[in-house]
Amino acid sequence: MLEQIANELENLKKEATSAIEAAGSTAELAELDIKYLGRKGSFAAYMSRMKDLSNEERPSFGKIVNEAKTAVSTALSDRRIALLVAEDTAKLKKDRIDVTLPGRFASVGSIHPTSAALKEISDIFLRLGFTIEEGPDVEDEWHNFDALNIPDTHPARDVQDTFFVKSPKEVAESGNKILMRTHTSPVQARTMEKQQPPIRFIAPGRVYRNERIDASHYTIFHQIEGLYVDKNVTFAQLKGTLMNFAKIYYGPQASIRLRPGFFPFTEPSAEVDITCTVCGGKGCSVCKGTGWVEVLGAGMVHPNVFKAAGYTDPDITGYAFGLGVERLAILKYRIDDIRLFYDNDIRFLEQFI
Ligand code: DAH
Repeated sequence: MLEQIANELENLKKEATSAIEAAGSTAELAELDIKYLGRKGSFAAYMSRMKDLSNEERPSFGKIVNEAKTAVSTALSDRRIALLVAEDTAKLKKDRIDVTLPGRFASVGSIHPTSAALKEISDIFLRLGFTIEEGPDVEDEWHNFDALNIPDTHPARDVQDTFFVKSPKEVAESGNKILMRTHTSPVQARTMEKQQPPIRFIAPGRVYRNERIDASHYTIFHQIEGLYVDKNVTFAQLKGTLMNFAKIYYGPQASIRLRPGFFPFTEPSAEVDITCTVCGGKGCSVCKGTGWVEVLGAGMVHPNVFKAAGYTDPDITGYAFGLGVERLAILKYRIDDIRLFYDNDIRFLEQFI
């Protein structure tokens, strides 16, 4: 009996060890472990045969079973180690990091040149004593045109030039149509409506025009409006403020030149040129040989604008100006196309980090 069991066990051991040798993964080994050494495994089944044996046979039986079990268990752990090493090596090979490769840098974001210019220009006027006011981008005709003395017949009031917004019925019937503001000047009207002089503010913001897009025109751009209203404000003060601004923004060599102009909301009005920054005033293609580039409009607030605001004190005077932000930035950074500000081409934006 014992001899037969010993033979069987020898066969079982051989079968188990060769299966273990052939196992290709630790997962497979785990299954073999259960199959042979588990609680319901092949060796456990043998132990239940102990009861068929005589008392003398039992110790030898135990020894044989234990030896076979130990042999299988040793084979299992040897194979497990070999497989673990192989699996580890394969994983390391697969996940290998080439430390000689250059690293990937996280790209750093930057302030958009329009935002940077808005801030830089605004900061200059803040230092010169101006505060900041805001008005809505979606305006009404009254604030954008009427309150600014712009007559009904003015070409800017045409759909060719202005984006009108579909208005609710009551608004359309009231005759005060809704539009995208064509300039920041309505902030003058809105601020005077709610504040008494003295007033000294700038209003930076976005404006909209129904424009054919080209290198120097876009349907959206930014302006900074300026308004100073008090007793006896003079044209000389306007000129001084703009001269100061030009020298701070472009450097001490920059100068300004005022030419007579026309705006319905100022009288007298001036077109203001700044020394061409590209040629330093000598004359080039940017300034069309004149040495000057037009960058803003300005003037003394028209009496009709004060009237619309409800200002009646005859000693009250004021100056106003409106400058194009992209225009100023184009000159400062020598950008040759306004569309670049709106394309969001990363190669352009990266130059302003
Ligand atoms: N609103 C004018 C425009 O968009 C610019 C302007 C001119 C503003 C003269 C002013 C001013 O305040 O006094 O063309």
